Amino acid sequence: MIMPRETAPLTEREVDEVMARYPERTGDLLTILEELQERHPLHYLPTVTLEMVARKKQVPLSQIYSVVTFYSFFNLRPQGRHTIMVCRGTACHTRGSKMLMDGVLAATGSPPPEEEGGAAFTTADYGITVRTVACFGQCALAPVVAVDEDIHGHMTDLQLRRIVREVLRKDGAE
Ligand code: FES
Repeated sequence: MIMPRETAPLTEREVDEVMARYPERTGDLLTILEELQERHPLHYLPTVTLEMVARKKQVPLSQIYSVVTFYSFFNLRPQGRHTIMVCRGTACHTRGSKMLMDGVLAATGSPPPEEEGGAAFTTADYGITVRTVACFGQCALAPVVAVDEDIHGHMTDLQLRRIVREVLRKDGAE
């Protein structure tokens, strides 16, 4: 099967380049994994990459998995070029975040992500990852949504759909 370049795992040479900076056998594992994830165009750690790291570090693959599953910032699936995070905390819920979630899912053509554990969904073209979060700590601005690095308070369904369209348009996906 031919994978689009951006979903393909890093090459062994790319992995070696990162690992060469951290020659200790067991040290710096977190940093190495972070750098490898950052280097992947879709910000994730494919299984093949984890296997390479385990082999080259001479540590069990289970040890690598226990690290990447413990820290929530590691991704084991491809991430979208843009991330939309809809707060599903109590304050945001009572101010309509469920409707925002439904709207963004409809706008991106995504099925609903599981509500538990901040599950995420990424569109088939890897344009957008939609996630839920428990609370941004900005409850006075509820309902709150983050689009990439930007936090938007008092969000409405109409505004959010407009933002999604704008993000997709800038990417040339519309
Ligand atoms: S509940 Fe949404 S920001 Fe706190």
